[in-house]
Amino acid sequence: MNTTWTEENSKDFIQYGNDFVPYRAEQQHIISELIKPLPSSANVVELGCGAGLLSYHLLKEYPQATVYGYDGSPTMLDQATRQVGQYQDRFRTQLFDLAAIDWRQPAFPVHAFVSSLVIHHLDNAGKAQLFSDLYQALEPGGALVIADIIQPATEIGFSIAAQQWDTYVQGQQYEDAYQIFVQDHWNYFAYPDEDPIDQPSTLPDQLNWLREAGFHSVDVYWMFAGHAIFGGRKK
Ligand SMILES: C[S@@+](CC[C@H](N)C(=O)[O-])C[C@H]1O[C@@H](n2cnc3c(N)ncnc32)[C@H](O)[C@@H]1O
Repeated sequence: MNTTWTEENSKDFIQYGNDFVPYRAEQQHIISELIKPLPSSANVVELGCGAGLLSYHLLKEYPQATVYGYDGSPTMLDQATRQVGQYQDRFRTQLFDLAAIDWRQPAFPVHAFVSSLVIHHLDNAGKAQLFSDLYQALEPGGALVIADIIQPATEIGFSIAAQQWDTYVQGQQYEDAYQIFVQDHWNYFAYPDEDPIDQPSTLPDQLNWLREAGFHSVDVYWMFAGHAIFGGRKK
């Protein structure tokens, strides 16, 4: 079984991910609000930009900003470049390995880091170190906003998240997509031990690591079906 994200995973996610991510538009809106205020000509880095949906939203919302889309998958970066379309002149892509440290001292000022459904690929220690490195890399006043699946602390937490996610996808009326969701055991909360790529951490742990890294105003802004939006700000 794979322990890292593959190009095959990228193709599946491009095809179905959008149907499976709960309230994607609402999540994008919240993330976009949370990185305010941005200076003019701000630089925003999206870690694991995937097919570029969030980057596109941010480029549209912030017409002066440059968005850096980092991802480990060439398939995703190609798709992201197509997705941002008319905003390509303010979008820069970079192949990266989330777990590596070579990209963590950017050669340009970063006013916000955002990330959606990626950081759960790091283990506990990897997340804590990442938060610390992102804090160092951010400009004063900058924000880190993370949308991700989180590890429930209890069995009932798993059960509630699994049920909410299943009901959500079923209700989207994409009959084929729901079949794939069920057939491929996409619901992490129903099959938590099946895929070693996924290593979500509990939300309280992640909030603590953010505080320990130096972030203030650490908070959770949205949560549904085991998906949370949380983050903090640098003084
Ligand atoms: C579940 S997708 C999410 C994509 C996008 N952020 C979204 O919300 O639709 C996970 C993304 O993380 C990238 N990824 C996974 N592990 C990675 C790693 N170790 N280094 C860099 N990118 C990685 C994948 O290529 C993929 O684009």
